[in-house]
Amino acid sequence: MKPILIIGGGGFAKEIVWLAQDCDRDVIGVLDDNPETHGSLVQGIEVLGAVDEWTKYDAEIVIAIGNPRVRAIVAEKLEQQGKPLFATLIHPSVRYSKTVTFEAGCMVCAGTILTTDISVGKHVILNLNVTVGHETCISDFVTVAPMAAISGNVKLECYAEVGTGASIRQGVDIGRGAMLGMGGVLTKNIPNFTIFAGNPAKKLKELPEV
Ligand SMILES: CC(C)(COP(=O)(O)OP(=O)(O)OC[C@H]1O[C@@H](n2cnc3c(N)ncnc32)[C@H](O)[C@@H]1OP(=O)(O)O)[C@@H](O)C(=O)NCCC(=O)NCCS
Repeated sequence: MKPILIIGGGGFAKEIVWLAQDCDRDVIGVLDDNPETHGSLVQGIEVLGAVDEWTKYDAEIVIAIGNPRVRAIVAEKLEQQGKPLFATLIHPSVRYSKTVTFEAGCMVCAGTILTTDISVGKHVILNLNVTVGHETCISDFVTVAPMAAISGNVKLECYAEVGTGASIRQGVDIGRGAMLGMGGVLTKNIPNFTIFAGNPAKKLKELPEV
């Protein structure tokens, strides 16, 4: 199996080094566009250079950037520059049934549980101890923070974000680029590019469309 190259040298990258190592993968390095980070260590792994340098390495890539839109921009750029091979990292403690599918580039952290008939799109992050119920659809570039509880038949559209410890009622949709704040209790759909928060979650603000 090819080693792992991590894009992004922030705090989340430290956790992804650990995830990759727990998945029994070698991590050869980190790439980050901030020149001040070059030569420094991320969880013991060297920042080798700028993101454009990925083509030098025979490795599988994960983009360890929590912001969904930034992650998508980086993925798009890599695809314009060559043929990146994206790794899917699923921690050995994660539990999921045979009817759960994951696309390339997903990062699924320790303790997460996905039940049945669930699709997880490209470059999705499911952080620590997330639960996902039956027939839920998680689209590309979604980020779910630790301890979120996602019920059955939920749809998370592209670039949606779910904050730490949030709960989502069954059958509810979170729109494209929309967000549920930490601790939010979501009982109805969130429109595209809108932040909801609170219990019950209500509109907090609108976001620029992308
Ligand atoms: C919802 C969120 C995006 C809002 O951030 P923001 O746009 O910067 O908003 P602000 O911090 O300026 O807060 C605006 C108001 O909303 C309130 N608020 C912020 N987040 C809230 C939340 N999660 N639930 C309830 N109220 C919240 C603030 O107290 C503030 O209220 P006030 O106007 O009465 O003072 C952010 O607070 C949040 O929850 N982010 C997710 C964090 C997370 O889960 N990180 C995961 C790391 S792994």
